[in-house]
Amino acid sequence: MPIADSPRNGDAVEGSGRPKASPRTARDPALSHRMKHNKSILALAVSSKNIFAGTQGGEILVYSLDTYERRKVIEAHKGSVLGLCLSPDQSLLLSSATDPIVNIWSTTSYLRLYALWSTYDVGDIFCVAYSAYHHTVYLGAQNTSIQWYDLKEKDSRPRPLLTSHPSERKDRFFDSAGPGGVQTPRPHATETKLRDAVGGQNLEIDKRDVRQFAHYGYVYCMLVGRGILPDAPSEEVLVSGGGDGRILLWRTNPQNKGGISEICALEDGREEGESILSLAREGSFLYSGRLDGEVNVWDLETRQLVRSLKAGTGDVLTLSLGGGLLFAGGVEGLVQKFNQHYETVSTFKAHDGLILASAFTVYNGKPTFVTGGNDDTIVLWDIQDCAGPSSAPKRSSNDLMVESLNQFVSFRTVSSMPKYRADCRRGASFLRSVFQNFGAATEMLNTTEPYNPIVFAKFRGNPATAASRKKILFYGHYDVISAENEHGKWKYDPFSLVGEGGYLYGRGVSDNKGPIMAAIYAAHELANEQSLDADILFLIEGEEESGSRGFKETIKAKKELIGDVDWILLANSYWLDDHVPCLTYGLRGVIHATVQIESRHPDLHSGVDGSALLDEPLKDLVMLLSKLTGNHGKVQIPGFYSPILPLTDDEKELYAEITKTLLRGNPDLGDADELAQSLMRRWREASLTIHRFQTSGPDNSTIIPRLAKASLSLRLVPNQEASEVARSLTNYLDSEFKRLDSKNTLRVTIDHQAEPWLGDFNNEIFQTLESAIKSVWGPTLGRRRSSLSALKSLPENLTIPSPSSESRPSPTTSNTLANGSVEDSAPSSPTTLARKPLYIREGGSIPSIRFLEKEFDAPAAHLPCGQASDSAHLDNERLRLVNLYNSKKIFKKVFRELPQK
Ligand code: BES
Ligand code: MN
Repeated sequence: MPIADSPRNGDAVEGSGRPKASPRTARDPALSHRMKHNKSILALAVSSKNIFAGTQGGEILVYSLDTYERRKVIEAHKGSVLGLCLSPDQSLLLSSATDPIVNIWSTTSYLRLYALWSTYDVGDIFCVAYSAYHHTVYLGAQNTSIQWYDLKEKDSRPRPLLTSHPSERKDRFFDSAGPGGVQTPRPHATETKLRDAVGGQNLEIDKRDVRQFAHYGYVYCMLVGRGILPDAPSEEVLVSGGGDGRILLWRTNPQNKGGISEICALEDGREEGESILSLAREGSFLYSGRLDGEVNVWDLETRQLVRSLKAGTGDVLTLSLGGGLLFAGGVEGLVQKFNQHYETVSTFKAHDGLILASAFTVYNGKPTFVTGGNDDTIVLWDIQDCAGPSSAPKRSSNDLMVESLNQFVSFRTVSSMPKYRADCRRGASFLRSVFQNFGAATEMLNTTEPYNPIVFAKFRGNPATAASRKKILFYGHYDVISAENEHGKWKYDPFSLVGEGGYLYGRGVSDNKGPIMAAIYAAHELANEQSLDADILFLIEGEEESGSRGFKETIKAKKELIGDVDWILLANSYWLDDHVPCLTYGLRGVIHATVQIESRHPDLHSGVDGSALLDEPLKDLVMLLSKLTGNHGKVQIPGFYSPILPLTDDEKELYAEITKTLLRGNPDLGDADELAQSLMRRWREASLTIHRFQTSGPDNSTIIPRLAKASLSLRLVPNQEASEVARSLTNYLDSEFKRLDSKNTLRVTIDHQAEPWLGDFNNEIFQTLESAIKSVWGPTLGRRRSSLSALKSLPENLTIPSPSSESRPSPTTSNTLANGSVEDSAPSSPTTLARKPLYIREGGSIPSIRFLEKEFDAPAAHLPCGQASDSAHLDNERLRLVNLYNSKKIFKKVFRELPQK
């Protein structure tokens, strides 16, 4: 994925719509995902499933390595989390902080198992290490001590008195008597209670289990490992680095309850050492990071300093090793990457500020480097140049799908702007190549010039069943709405896919490129697994956002090639909120029209020529348009509402079911009836919108424009015939214009029209989709919104709602639903029942659906892949990664199971 170089809101993107990024070299890792928080990230640990990040606010954030979703915010400490470490079996997570406490957590339940503290004030606890062999925890503190606790003794040692807890102790500074001997009262303990730093067993370090003055300086970093002593490779050794510039090796002595005794110091011959800020080890080599870019390489066999590297990172605050590479991160926000010969492979900007922590992991065969900084972000980097043949990255199908989507999004396939015609063609041939690479038969179907071609592809099912094979047609569109970013509202370049907070950002990622990729990968995976019984046909057009120009004619002309179709499937809409999966069974139709009024005069000056005798085109236009609607948008075109079907009782029930579910997830949405009304108005009633005006002449306030035009659209519902409505619109405007008795001329053009669609939600496609949704999404329930922390995930253009009904704008819109459904970071109380999707209709339109149904005499169904907050057609369009992955799974199930119906 293209790198977006630590962009800040507002200045990330230049006017040209391209990100400001320093030139990238092939050896720079690709930024694969960015997770934003509101506090500095001070410590990182990575398990096989999760990233754990310790923050300045005392939280430990848990992110999934699969979907990059934040799984949990552990309120862990009252002070900054400075150190994190995992037990080798990854069952325990140890955190140290400025409170000064070490907490030990279960990595499965996230519950606290132990809270550990010293008998006396040790200052900040910079680091923590764990010996699995001795079950002993080591901490390194500001007061230069190393202290330890043997967990085997936890039940035999006396239970500590709560009064010995650090928070109960007098602080030498804050709790000293002020002027007149007065002491400021402490806040009551309950006022500062943390949600998760509760429970478990309290443990206090024995006074004997302390090594005072372990260093003549702060103990900054520690690690525990085997293979450090050449003559006793199986022995676990503790290594510590301090502010005194010394690296010390300690024997962990089983006879002495995990106590330590110094083995040696690693000598670099310097009189006065400079602080050891970071440590990392691989095999018999130890690496230490120091001030001003100094990285030392130590041979543990000979205990000699073998190399001294110079990184351009500033003080080396963190070191990580993995895939035969050494990563140094420092105060300049830069990471320098070294290979096995200690040559610099690349240096790249990772954070806008200090890099304070890093880690390396291989997740699902994908080497990943993680950094955290004081710009409040955690960044995941794709490392593709690991050393050694076995470490060549293996990419999962999901990774490849995101990679294909990344390329797909980079084509500016904007159908409405002639300047992007070539980009549309390139996008179409890229898409065709994706199908071809997966072994599908493809053909480019040309539409009438100058419209964009349609990509046709066919994955052939099991050859043995050729005669009786069922055929599923997937319809989608590769064209997108323009994203010129004139106002710099996009956080990143709209045409580079950028991952942030579990979402992929880019124009078209939700509408409709992401869902298309999910369907293609589903068909491909099934074909690969030889489980494709049906033929899966794809028709992906390039003019949908412009009213599907040329689609009908081309499909009619190519019917022979396409052949028969049993079912039609599309995925081009969104859930009602951000949580409850939906199935869409209805879309409105639409007519787009342009109303133009033209004078026989040229553009004039209002001072020179303005008079009551002159019929001004823009004035005529305003008067004419005012005849279209009455109060509250009631359309005045004669007969407009007459075909619309009345609401049935069955329908009423559907709406009741929907509002019940939405309100359960977010009671702030208000009154159920009001909510149902707003949905009905948008889904089953017609409406008229005036989109914009255009005038001729220079854009200043003295001009009487020669020509004025307006573009408007009417959304239509079942039983309203598009061409019928188009005719009565034109007639009505003509007759009302006559009544104006103007000398100007009127021209009404119908730009494009689309029939409404109403599917049968009881048919076998909807049934198959429903069971696939249930099994893939499981028991996803609407959740209540929590404040602050979760609001960070809102896209830029959405505003934060106020819970009070007075300030909630009326009526309820899609925006209200998207805003009102912000995910809580706390785990939900899941029900065990898989949730039935909500059956919904949509106010939007897709011109080709009703046409395809009629043309192929096959029923259509619509799976919405995106969430309400996806911002299709708006700035910062996005798609949640889990939605992409799960949509692929759903398509796979449907492609496999539907033919058996
Ligand atoms: N994906 C939308 C259709 C849609 C919009 C579904 C809103 C659900 C909710 C589609 O890509 C689109 O934008 N359609 C246009 C069609 C028009 C240009 C003929 C629309 O609805 O305006
Ligand atoms: Mn669209």
